[in-house]
Amino acid sequence: MKRLVPLAAAAMAGCSAPQSPLDPAGDQASALLSLFGLVVLVCGLFYLLVLAALGWGVLRRRRGQGQAEQQDSGLTRGLYVWGGMIVAGLTVLIVGSFIADRSLASARARETLLVRVSGHQWWWRIQYRDPATGGWIETANELHLPVGRTTRVLIGTADVIHSFWVPNLAGKQDLIPGRDNAVDLTPRRIGRYRGQCAEFCGAQHAHMAFDVTVEDPARFDRWLAAQARPAGRPADPVALRGEQVVAQGQCGACHVVRGTAAAGRAGPDLTHLASRRSIAAGTLPMTLGNLQGWIAQPQAIKPGTRMPAVRLSGPDADAVGHYLATLR
Ligand code: CUA
Repeated sequence: MKRLVPLAAAAMAGCSAPQSPLDPAGDQASALLSLFGLVVLVCGLFYLLVLAALGWGVLRRRRGQGQAEQQDSGLTRGLYVWGGMIVAGLTVLIVGSFIADRSLASARARETLLVRVSGHQWWWRIQYRDPATGGWIETANELHLPVGRTTRVLIGTADVIHSFWVPNLAGKQDLIPGRDNAVDLTPRRIGRYRGQCAEFCGAQHAHMAFDVTVEDPARFDRWLAAQARPAGRPADPVALRGEQVVAQGQCGACHVVRGTAAAGRAGPDLTHLASRRSIAAGTLPMTLGNLQGWIAQPQAIKPGTRMPAVRLSGPDADAVGHYLATLR
């Protein structure tokens, strides 16, 4: 019994986690968890029945009970009952799947926000449709969602197959080259969750995560408005030097910092990098030290990443780290 307590505690901790389909925080994940429960119940019941029939058969055989004729008629009746139960069990599963599917599809009518997600080896480009202008506001590796509203997420990929999965909010949806997919998210609980690429996509598949923040709609609107703005100019001279290095050096060839000359499209948009919770697609928490480590040795932190180690002098590397940390 004593041994069971930590085991049960570990199992319970797994149930209320930022990345768990067993702790639904949205309509879609709730519908899927209900369906999962139904499947486990029906299949578990049939599993027990099969075991009981097996045990009964073994016992009967051992005792050598019954005449051959009696056994035959009993078996025939038993098989009819068994066939009927299988039909009933499958019918329950079909109806359950249909109800879950309709409930996922019904969210379509309540969509209020449009987001485009594009998978890259190994990060996520994320664009919000600006409700005011109809343009797109770009960020990377993080999703903010207003609680109680339905967001339509359009899904595509720039290279290989990936899969978009926020277990607390909805099921998986694959990102397939040349094909447009979509998934609805209707979060019901404010909080922080974690999304993860769920389809093997190369060496750093495991380091292709993203942060999800579900917040009240007013807060979300403020966040989106802030993301739409260009980067502010840094005040201190070290960060100002960093801005120059980023905009005029190699960083700007791959990254955008809106409001500066950095306009590369190959890598993530860095305009509000420091407002995110992590760097390198959920690989490290967002701190100045981690930013500096990532700039200095990306291949050591995420081997195979498309981000090269850019040769910078010590003071320049330091300045770039400080500048990026000001991009809130
Ligand atoms: Cu992208 Cu796995």
